[in-house]
Amino acid sequence: MADGIEIGFGPLGQSGQCPGGSGDLVVFVGDDLTLGSAARDALGASGADLVARAAASEKFKGRSLTALSLPAPGGVEADRLVVVGLGSDKDRAKTDWPVLGGFTASKVSGRTARIVLDWPGATVTAAQAGEFALGARLRTYTFDRYKTKKKPDAEEKAGTALTLLLADHDAASREGDTARSLSDSVILARDLVNEPPNVLYPEEFARRAADLAKLGVEIEVLEPARMRELGMGALLAVAQGSVREPRIVIMRWNGGPAGEAPVALIGKGVIFDSGGVSIKPGGGMEDMKGDMGGAAAVVGALHALAARKARCNVVGAIGIVENMPDGGSYRPSDILTSMSGQTIEVINTDAEGRLVLADVITHVIRSAKPKAIVDLATLTGAIIVALGQDIAGMFSNDDALAGNIHAAGEATGEKVWRMPLIPAYDKAIDSKFADMKNTGGRHGGAATAASFIKRYVEEVPWAHLDIAGVAMSSNASEINRSWGAGWGVRLLDRLIRDHYEAR
Ligand code: BES
Ligand code: MN
Ligand code: ZN
Repeated sequence: MADGIEIGFGPLGQSGQCPGGSGDLVVFVGDDLTLGSAARDALGASGADLVARAAASEKFKGRSLTALSLPAPGGVEADRLVVVGLGSDKDRAKTDWPVLGGFTASKVSGRTARIVLDWPGATVTAAQAGEFALGARLRTYTFDRYKTKKKPDAEEKAGTALTLLLADHDAASREGDTARSLSDSVILARDLVNEPPNVLYPEEFARRAADLAKLGVEIEVLEPARMRELGMGALLAVAQGSVREPRIVIMRWNGGPAGEAPVALIGKGVIFDSGGVSIKPGGGMEDMKGDMGGAAAVVGALHALAARKARCNVVGAIGIVENMPDGGSYRPSDILTSMSGQTIEVINTDAEGRLVLADVITHVIRSAKPKAIVDLATLTGAIIVALGQDIAGMFSNDDALAGNIHAAGEATGEKVWRMPLIPAYDKAIDSKFADMKNTGGRHGGAATAASFIKRYVEEVPWAHLDIAGVAMSSNASEINRSWGAGWGVRLLDRLIRDHYEAR
């Protein structure tokens, strides 16, 4: 992990000065190319004229998310001047602040940059500046831990310092602290997704989750002996083909009133999914190191909540296993008894995630009595077929919870689309020999998987997020260039903040 960039805040009046005397100066313009007054002060009269001429010769029109970079005009204490476009009035009214921050950070080429958050008609709030900073830090993350020859500019970029200049810089600086800890939380999740399974096997994953103790999170780790006592026959069956022992990590953040029922966040943590005896085809199997994206999101979310001392009770629980073929593996036709007592006929050992989730969910319901459950899992290829890679599938038994998650998705850009749960899907997993089978056939694969999980949530308000399409192998965006997206950390943090925290 490159440790990302440093971001500070200062008053607009500083835009003319530059501590190092070099670096970039960044200003913003709409599609009329007019500079704000602070930007004009920084550039001087000849500077404004130079921008107009450079824009004309470079065909820079100030459209949203375009940029013009030129040598800084004489008299301006900077090496380069970067002009970032904001588009029309309409575009500006719906500015996506993390995206603007990410884009801007990608256009900075110096070691330092002063970024003048001022343009005609703008009053950038502290919260918006914080979101800008969040996007900038997320954009500059790279996972290069295993590259012995770093890209020439990677190390240099890691030390880049940005100073955001705006009127409300004191308040922005506090928002910046929040943005910093939230971006650290997303980066923690990205690192976990990007790490290879030989390094990040279950015990090691559990150790990294247990690090949250430093932030005041209460940690409990369940080992196989305890899982056997609890009767976790579903999770243990998945784990039994691997030489690596499984772990369950329970993370409790008690920031709310003592005794208040917690919200439970539950994550699928399959550190590698070979498919087991129902082995997957070789092509692309390396992507299955990301089959713990749900668990990574839960660890990241607990990190975010603890770092900002959220006033709520939240319990995170992750089931961490490796799914491997072996002489000792579970096999199709096995009948498992889950902790809930319900029996499961194994049809396909590659439908392992739901088996892991089933026992973790039962354990959390019994031990923590949560008032709501949100599970995140890279559960099915079918959800990728249905929705692609830019939006997660959501299944829920509770309209209010589903609405809140949808809203948190819209607010953060980690979007979800609600999918149906109807009795036909439940019927599809009835088994000839046991209470249920672990697959429902090819049709509606994401929905029958969700219906399986539904059989374990009892009457608790619950939402299941199938994040197979969004957690890994991510499309490049303005705020992410990494394979592992850290998807869900910002969504969960927002969900808790907006709906479960005392104010
Ligand atoms: N981990 C996979 C789902 C997955 C696929 C995640 C692609 C990310 C990218 C899951 O365990 C799985 O193998 N699901 C099977 C279920 C089937 C056997 C019923 C699938 O989707 O094919
Ligand atoms: Mn699988
Ligand atoms: Zn899997």
